[in-house]
Amino acid sequence: MDVHALRAEVAGIRWHHRIDLGSGIVTPGLDDSARKLRRLSLPESFRGKSVLDVGAWDGFFSFEAERRGAARVLATDSFVWRGGIATGKAGFDLARRALGSRVEDMDIDVLELSPERVGTFDVVLFLGVLYHMRHPLLALERVASVTRELLVVETVVDCLDYRRPAMAFYPGSELSNDETSWCGPNPAAVTAMLRTAGLPRVDVVAGARPLSYRVAKACYYRLKFGYPFVATMRTDRMVFHAAR
Ligand SMILES: C[S@@+](CC[C@H](N)C(=O)[O-])C[C@H]1O[C@@H](n2cnc3c(N)ncnc32)[C@H](O)[C@@H]1O
Repeated sequence: MDVHALRAEVAGIRWHHRIDLGSGIVTPGLDDSARKLRRLSLPESFRGKSVLDVGAWDGFFSFEAERRGAARVLATDSFVWRGGIATGKAGFDLARRALGSRVEDMDIDVLELSPERVGTFDVVLFLGVLYHMRHPLLALERVASVTRELLVVETVVDCLDYRRPAMAFYPGSELSNDETSWCGPNPAAVTAMLRTAGLPRVDVVAGARPLSYRVAKACYYRLKFGYPFVATMRTDRMVFHAAR
């Protein structure tokens, strides 16, 4: 692709991910995608594996799976790709074209995932989606049903003071002023739901950070984006690996 034309197209899109498209062009997403990637502890190689990226948005993690040698990658989404936020699927489509990628795409809701609709995959990525679910256990059941080997869940966690499975419910925009966020399970709840969904082997690969970190984070988000301080301080993000 012509570099000047690509730069102009990139500038016309509201990006979530920061994707290196080559020629010095990195998409200007708000999400620090490379930092998130480091917390996921993904296998270095996906050689020969099939990978499903649920809620892929601009597709950073789909393209990364392909870069790591996956034989097949399917990226799915619904809310954003249907125009839920600004430029919808344009970022994914442009990045795929610019990278010369063969990642496949399907517009499908999480709750419609099933072996009959999409098949099954060696590795399933469920990153930043669980807390957007009104029915989190049902969503994990659907995602588990299409997982053959490994399900990677990255999510907001809340209720960190409770040892027993517990979950915050966000009927409004309590989490990050975002009306599309519904639940903040604690680590015990995520683990218990994954087991209930049929994936008994659950490992925490990135845990909650200490209170001092969360206080600093809450100050930053309060000043930069106006997020509610206490609610932000109570939450963090964690990564779980689950298998049969
Ligand atoms: C916070 S973004 C996470 C994007 C990416 N996975 C990441 O980790 O950077 C949440 C994504 O989930 C998608 N999503 C939300 N609800 C969904 C649903 N019911 N079915 C499918 N995708 C959904 C959104 O469209 C959005 O792309």
